[in-house]
Amino acid sequence: MDLSSSAHHAFAADADGLARALEELVAHHGAAVAEAGTTPLPDGIPADGIGPEAALALLAPLALDTATSLWAPTAAAHMDTPTPWITWAAASWTAAQSQNLLHRRSAPGALALEDTLMSWLAPMWGMHGGHVVPGATIANLTALWAARDGAGASRIVTSEAAHVSIAKSARLLGMPLFTLPTDSQDRISLDALADMTRRNPAEMDRTAVVLTAGTSAAGSIDQFDGARRAVSAFGAHAPWWHIDAAWAGPLVFSERHRKALDGIARADSVSVATHKWLFQPTEAAVVLFRDLTRANSALQFFGPGDANQIGLLGSRADRSLTLVLTLLAYGKAGVGAWIDQCIQQIAALEQAMRTRDDVELFGRPSSGILLWRPTQADVDTVAAGLDPGSASVVYARGQRWIRHVAASPLLDADELLYGIEAALRSSDSEKDADPA
Ligand SMILES: Cc1ncc(COP(=O)(O)O)c(C=O)c1O
Repeated sequence: MDLSSSAHHAFAADADGLARALEELVAHHGAAVAEAGTTPLPDGIPADGIGPEAALALLAPLALDTATSLWAPTAAAHMDTPTPWITWAAASWTAAQSQNLLHRRSAPGALALEDTLMSWLAPMWGMHGGHVVPGATIANLTALWAARDGAGASRIVTSEAAHVSIAKSARLLGMPLFTLPTDSQDRISLDALADMTRRNPAEMDRTAVVLTAGTSAAGSIDQFDGARRAVSAFGAHAPWWHIDAAWAGPLVFSERHRKALDGIARADSVSVATHKWLFQPTEAAVVLFRDLTRANSALQFFGPGDANQIGLLGSRADRSLTLVLTLLAYGKAGVGAWIDQCIQQIAALEQAMRTRDDVELFGRPSSGILLWRPTQADVDTVAAGLDPGSASVVYARGQRWIRHVAASPLLDADELLYGIEAALRSSDSEKDADPA
């Protein structure tokens, strides 16, 4: 078959087609306007394709109009951030080049770019290098694997607010997991950690301690130095300290807020999800090590040819280009300003919520996450009245809370407040209408 003879089967680049695909993207960009599942698609794979143009036109409404808009001024339900447009361009470059970073010889340019990215990023958290991985779950698993095989840790201690990826890692690595209670701010209880150490200091000598910078529910940041002191006070020494900074790690980009991460540089490893507060397309994260040589020798396999496999992944895509472009284009100050803007909007929302007597706040928002609950209505009833893109319900301190995450620099506290007030009013009127 002559692949160039038919528009339907053309494989090579079609500049006009690409330009039209981007036009579709821009034209459909914005709020979701259609319900998922409303675009009719064939029941099975078409025997003959309908051609790239028709396929793009058919799928544009499905892929673009039904997407949850992370650009809405009320998009605050999850730790999912919108992406700067420059990453859209870079993502299409990445797809077009489809480099496989497994082999140094097959992707020298992409690997050099990744090396540059690591040399830019690692020092931000006081680390000396690391790996780009597809998400913080893999980052945490990789870090704990290095803790086990590089430092002899055979058990994991963390708090009950730690992300589920720590439990998954423990199970995969065959390391028993011990979860300690949290304090009133959802941080690991230093008393509980001290107590555990006091009862059996020798156990601590084979423990990887996992602290969190930005817990999934409340965004709380564990007390890094306090936790170290709670262990060292009894003459114990944990061989590995990992900080899961999936969410709050990028606070180091903000002059105003980086202090919240003081002490992070003393960790042995740090995970940061770059698809959260570094505004990259999902799935992207980094795992960083203070001693990269030690970590890599624990994570290293020698494959055939020049494949030097380090870590979990085999064939792996370039995830650096989008972030290098972002950092190059906007700099530390630009990213820091986006984060500051996110936090400022949540602070404005907090202030407004504090004036109400029909809600209770969890506490001061940590790392841009506000939790609150109605005092005169059921949490789930009020949550059901909120735009689902604007809030989620989480569990913390033994209770359910409505959560708003400052994931977007385009967030508008006034619009969020408007939705909250409407949900509270409507739960009030439901109560009034209830004859019981
Ligand atoms: C604290 C924390 N750690 C780890 C993860 C897992 O990250 P990912 O979804 O990138 O695997 C999350 C996800 O939200 C998280 O909040």
